[in-house]
Amino acid sequence: MSEFFNHVIEGLSKKDKKLNPKWFYDYEGSKIFEQITKLDEYYITRTEIDILKKNQDEISKCIGEHATIIEPGAGAGEKIKILIKSLKKPELYVPSDISKTYIRDIATKLEKALPNIKIEPWVFDFQSNEKIPSHIYQKKNLTTFFPGSTIGNFEPLDAINFLKKVKNQFYSDKIIIGVDLIKEKKILERAYNDALGVTSKFNKNILKRMNKELNADLNLDFFKHDAIFNKKKSRIEMRLISQKKQHINIGQTSFLFQDQEIIHTENSYKYSLDMFKNLAKDAGWSVAKIWVDKNKLFSVQFLIHQ
Ligand code: AVJ
Repeated sequence: MSEFFNHVIEGLSKKDKKLNPKWFYDYEGSKIFEQITKLDEYYITRTEIDILKKNQDEISKCIGEHATIIEPGAGAGEKIKILIKSLKKPELYVPSDISKTYIRDIATKLEKALPNIKIEPWVFDFQSNEKIPSHIYQKKNLTTFFPGSTIGNFEPLDAINFLKKVKNQFYSDKIIIGVDLIKEKKILERAYNDALGVTSKFNKNILKRMNKELNADLNLDFFKHDAIFNKKKSRIEMRLISQKKQHINIGQTSFLFQDQEIIHTENSYKYSLDMFKNLAKDAGWSVAKIWVDKNKLFSVQFLIHQ
């Protein structure tokens, strides 16, 4: 059976039911996420873009000339365009993703927008131990770009492992990374419980995919989206809450949900500057520069080898 099927069966068999957020992102889910990034309540994307724009010169100085930029999990392209346009004589852009067709698509689109840089997509699975192709690591000035606070989706230990990967598998000696900051609970919870219900649609897309791809019989109206800030763990927790006692079927396998039983679908960790500095240090990196917006909602950080 498919990887998706195995994950879902495993996740829903647990005492505390959970699903992995990576399954949000089929074509439709990626489109819904793009809508999230434009919501009033979702400060993350526009704040990061603002920080990247306002600090172009400094960021460019940090990275230096003739850079090769590697971007694991490359996205819609707006941020990389800003970054590359700020650089002096950039050499090569390496967007990377597990999906070959997706990453080729991104590369083709960007070639038009960025005529001055060579683009070479790299199909890479986060979970693998594969190293970047040798003709890329032979380049000077390898920098990894990891915006969007995607690092917040990792458990802290996995975040450390990821930062180690950047050094050992991407051979980068610099990182530009977006890190979302701890702030008032109200602002955080609003960002993940928007008034238009776009985040709810995003969260439920995982259920929709189960119906479509795994022959499940879930009624999306019998689950409610919710997101809370867990202050002790410093993370937003996204959940789907069963609105009644119900049996659901996924192919031949059936699961019982109690009324109000929770499926935990995503964590989004929020850091203080100190917490993130220590996390980076545990992975062998030191924070050389931090840019924030005036309200200290979000940070873009420049990391170098210790
Ligand atoms: C893409 C992981 C950064 O955690 O803010 C947005 C995903 N989930 N709304 C985040 C997300 C719900 C987003 N990241």
